[in-house]
Amino acid sequence: MSKLPRTAVIGAGSSGIAAVKALHQRGVDVTCFEASDRVGGNWVFQNKNKMSAAYRYLHINTSRERMEYSDFPMPKSYPDYPHHAQIAEYFDAYVDHFALRDHIRFQTKVMRAERRVDGTWELTLDGGETQRFDALVVANGHHWDPRWPEPAFPGADTFAGTQMHAHSYIDNEIFKDRNVVILGMGNSAMDIAVEASYVAANTFLAARRGAWIVPKYLFGKPTDQLHNDPRVPFAVRRRLFEALLKASVGRPEKFGLPKPDHGFGQAHPTVSGRILDRIQHGTIAPKPNIRRLDGELVEFDDGSREKVDVIVYCTGYKISFPFFDEDLIAAPDNHIELFRRVFHPDIDNVFFVGLLQPLGATMPLAEAQGRWIADYLRGEYALPMPDALRADIAADHKAMAKRYVASKRHTIQVDFEDYLHDLAKERRAGAARAQAAGFRLPVPARSAPDEQPVAA
Ligand SMILES: Cc1cc2nc3c(=O)[nH]c(=O)nc-3n(C[C@H](O)[C@H](O)[C@H](O)COP(=O)(O)OP(=O)(O)OC[C@H]3O[C@@H](n4cnc5c(N)ncnc54)[C@H](O)[C@@H]3O)c2cc1C
Ligand SMILES: NC(=O)c1ccc[n+]([C@@H]2O[C@H](COP(=O)([O-])OP(=O)(O)OC[C@H]3O[C@@H](n4cnc5c(N)ncnc54)[C@H](OP(=O)(O)O)[C@@H]3O)[C@@H](O)[C@H]2O)c1
Repeated sequence: MSKLPRTAVIGAGSSGIAAVKALHQRGVDVTCFEASDRVGGNWVFQNKNKMSAAYRYLHINTSRERMEYSDFPMPKSYPDYPHHAQIAEYFDAYVDHFALRDHIRFQTKVMRAERRVDGTWELTLDGGETQRFDALVVANGHHWDPRWPEPAFPGADTFAGTQMHAHSYIDNEIFKDRNVVILGMGNSAMDIAVEASYVAANTFLAARRGAWIVPKYLFGKPTDQLHNDPRVPFAVRRRLFEALLKASVGRPEKFGLPKPDHGFGQAHPTVSGRILDRIQHGTIAPKPNIRRLDGELVEFDDGSREKVDVIVYCTGYKISFPFFDEDLIAAPDNHIELFRRVFHPDIDNVFFVGLLQPLGATMPLAEAQGRWIADYLRGEYALPMPDALRADIAADHKAMAKRYVASKRHTIQVDFEDYLHDLAKERRAGAARAQAAGFRLPVPARSAPDEQPVAA
């Protein structure tokens, strides 16, 4: 009979609530700290935490059945690609259904997370209160700290119009009758360019690199529900899907977009059912990258110049942990070394949930990560030996660098099916190691010795 570690979770977005559920259901005493007054993080439009990137007409681009948790389906009345309000309601319903609300302290931001000499975590909350925990789960999201162009474009300080980041975009009111440049080829750029194209005088979509445009439906089904077998080598699946895209959608350069310098699956997917349509209607004009800004003018890499009122930088996000001492845990240029995106190689009681960028939806992966952490904290999963763990991290980095276009947006990529498949395999291997080790608890319960739950 041993005591289980008292565990804190930072963030009650879709990742944090999945972790809280997994830990709570497995007998771990868990407290989640949430800066906002409700769960759902990014999916709460105009969230009080000021961290949400949701815009008024945002819909998910991973389909409902892909995004839902394994044991809590979204209502069948939902469309295939629901609106953000429906998604936020779904997360609320999940928390109530599994009675998780009492484990979440709302309007409580974690300002500092410090590792004490004895290995426990001391959290300083925004009211100044401190609390001590044996283990810490980080689920603070990675789409809230905007990455602006680095370095800024020459002349950015002379630009007479408005420069903004996609993170602060709300709706297309600001584009009415104006000349607009949307920069980027990710999903923010697609959505915002399409919205601009209905009201702006001119919408220019500028990009430094092309992308394969993935439609929301293929063969009458949401595209992400097409069969994708992780046992088939990636190169084969890539070629097949690329051929399918060329045949059904066409090559991006046919629409005046830059030719992708990579194969399908070698960049985070750009999903849009509408962008090509709007380009073909003549309402969006593709452009190469911005070269410089000069007063009212934007000059592009092909030498063309346009008079522009608004530039929206859809240039992605930084992975940030403002509560950690940077010397302990940080992600410079979005790089962070973790075993399978969850376990820190040097710190045995900190874990990350949802810190991945899937080809597919995040939620079922966060759910699986939560269960994996619960196994570990209960001594039912043991990590590989340190050398093997480091070798695995190095191999993962190497594989990602080989496969993906070099970009700060491609440091935490995973394939949905492959990740779940590999994680299940690793959990089985770790269960055998844990058994051999006599189900030893890896994280001792030290933070509040008299109040700990007891492992079965
Ligand atoms: C515009 C946009 C559209 C997207 N569309 C999709 C999609 O269709 N499908 C998909 O799978 N993914 C999508 N994503 C990715 C998105 O990251 C995930 O959907 C999801 O929001 C990840 O959940 P999370 O819990 O990890 O992070 P978040 O949703 O960002 O939640 C993090 C939570 O942590 C809290 N928090 C942060 N710091 C602290 C702190 N110090 N103390 C206390 N609380 C804290 C925040 O208040 C927040 O509630 C999209 C992202 C963007 C930007
Ligand atoms: N409807 C939806 O569900 C929806 C909508 C929006 C966003 N999202 C999600 O939100 C996340 C973030 O997406 P995002 O589109 O905001 O960011 P992103 O995927 O990181 O894309 C950033 C884009 O900006 C480009 N870029 C970065 N720096 C640049 C620079 N200095 N000059 C020119 N181009 C630059 C990148 O090009 P390189 O490739 O060359 O780096 C890339 O095209 C993703 O997970 C996405 O799927 C979903």
